[in-house]
Amino acid sequence: MTAKIEARGIFKVFETPSEPVQALRAVDLSAQPGEFVALVGESGCGKTTLLRILAGLVLPTQGEVWIDGTPLRGPSQHIGMVFQRPVLLPWRTAAENVLLPAQVRGLPLAEASLDARSLLESMGLGDFLDRFPRHLSGGMQQRVAIARALLLQPSILLMDEPFGALDAITREQMHLDLLNVWSARRPTLLFVTHDIAEAVFLADRVVLLSPRPGTVRQVFQVPLRRPRLPDHRFSGEFAAACRDVKHAMQGNGRGQG
Ligand SMILES: Nc1ncnc2c1ncn2[C@@H]1O[C@H](COP(=O)(O)OP(=O)(O)OP(=O)(O)O)[C@@H](O)[C@H]1O
Ligand SMILES: [Mg+2]
Repeated sequence: MTAKIEARGIFKVFETPSEPVQALRAVDLSAQPGEFVALVGESGCGKTTLLRILAGLVLPTQGEVWIDGTPLRGPSQHIGMVFQRPVLLPWRTAAENVLLPAQVRGLPLAEASLDARSLLESMGLGDFLDRFPRHLSGGMQQRVAIARALLLQPSILLMDEPFGALDAITREQMHLDLLNVWSARRPTLLFVTHDIAEAVFLADRVVLLSPRPGTVRQVFQVPLRRPRLPDHRFSGEFAAACRDVKHAMQGNGRGQG
């Protein structure tokens, strides 16, 4: 099977006024169609840089990214992105924010409006379509950003610490809602987080990056069944999986691949 995303030998060096910063070194990463992959690593290890390279927003210094076996040459409507902050336009309602990518691309709006509405409903915001961002909580705003990223039905969704600013209870609900919309639409999902428990709860595989320059230190297959349920967080399997990643991050892991 052709990988959905294949990154080979990715290096990234940023030129700065003082000295060059090597952010990534020889990163190899792949994801299969519909797979949920979490990317974890310490602050500054290059997670955002890698995601931006995979989104076609930043060129690697060396190395190549293939999407469906074709070299990536720039941003693509098949790739949706969600950032740590929701970056909504304050003068547009929730539904109008979700519709924005269709308007930018000049697509027929009648159909896109229906899609925007149904995405917001599936994210639990059916009663908030006409609210402005300032009237929505942080979690609701991030739901709008996720709906917006999904509007053009991307086959790849890249998420950069999307729940980092949310409280623990909201975050746990967001996990369930994200898993629902992912299993309904099944994009290939790359999810960056600092939070090992979040990575294990959500993902099929957890990819651990080493500190700068970032490179893949270890890959973990998550043994939990789907659908993931809140009680999985209390299971021995869950604790063991989190412990393995944590140990590897601290440098004393026993390799799995
Ligand atoms: N545009 C840039 N110019 C110069 N250096 C940069 C640039 N972007 C990132 N870097 C550097 O590259 C390294 C990796 O940064 P990156 O933002 O990818 O890390 P990260 O893993 O996402 O960190 P965090 O978890 O804090 O978000 C850092 O040392 C950072 O200072
Ligand atoms: Mg980052």
